[in-house]
Amino acid sequence: MADAHPAVTYGSYLKIDELLSLQQARSDGEHDEMLFIIIHQVYELWFKELLHEFDRVARLLTGDEPHRAQHTLKRILTILKVMVAQLDILETMTPLEFLSFRARLEAASGFQSDQFRQIEFLLGAKTEAAIARYPEGSRARRALTERYHAPTLWDSFLHYLSREGYPVPSAQLSRTVTSPVEPSADVQQILIDIYRRDPKNAELCERLVDLDEGLQEWRYRHVKMVERTIGVKRGTGGSSGAAYLSSTVGRPLFSDLWEIRGRL
Ligand code: HEM
Repeated sequence: MADAHPAVTYGSYLKIDELLSLQQARSDGEHDEMLFIIIHQVYELWFKELLHEFDRVARLLTGDEPHRAQHTLKRILTILKVMVAQLDILETMTPLEFLSFRARLEAASGFQSDQFRQIEFLLGAKTEAAIARYPEGSRARRALTERYHAPTLWDSFLHYLSREGYPVPSAQLSRTVTSPVEPSADVQQILIDIYRRDPKNAELCERLVDLDEGLQEWRYRHVKMVERTIGVKRGTGGSSGAAYLSSTVGRPLFSDLWEIRGRL
């Protein structure tokens, strides 16, 4: 009797036919549009993987498993480095090559990447305005709304430190998770103690600083790529372009971790 289930192959497992059908250019055969589509799709896949790993970090911190949380953070940081390096590929596209199909993007922009916003949200940079950009009932809006109401990575970290015996103020532990994290003198004192006396948790702090620096590095490289590709032109998403993007570079996620460094 024939097997009802055909053998799994590389193609069927990874859905290669479907995957290769997803690169649909809008221009009339402009060569560089393929690179532009593929690189953005690859970024979206990496964003998906990052969200998957960040959710694991939060679960591991909540389960008091700092070593495994750190291991997962290391994976996240490695992916982030690959993501920054990928911008080199797009920089092989000259301004004129980009212009050959740019008009066909209409108002489409990475600005509308809901997975990027989800990553910002879980790292503490939340705004209601970002949610309002997506239609009611859409996958993007549902996912962002859920992340908006969920604790941030910093919240998971503070709860973990509290269970480790550190005197995290109750106001920090019960803070409204939709609000930005405010700098806290008490938390800063705890972090100083950790750096001086608690190597295990100091390592965890360092990985969070790596993450903060890594995201800023992506923002910096992205804005430089934008400057060299479109100069001072406005973005397709409607912002001022490089000027807007520059304003997002250098904004730390975990400000307490940066603040204490001059005092160690
Ligand atoms: C030629 C290549 C690119 C150009 C010229 C470009 C340009 C821009 C511009 C001008 C903005 C500001 C919003 C707007 O008005 O459109 C923006 C935002 C953004 N782009 Fe790109 N981009 C490029 C490639 C990429 C790639 C490969 C990604 C990867 C996903 C990406 C992700 C983003 C994200 C996430 C934002 C929002 C940043 C924020 O709001 O902080 N961009 N881009």
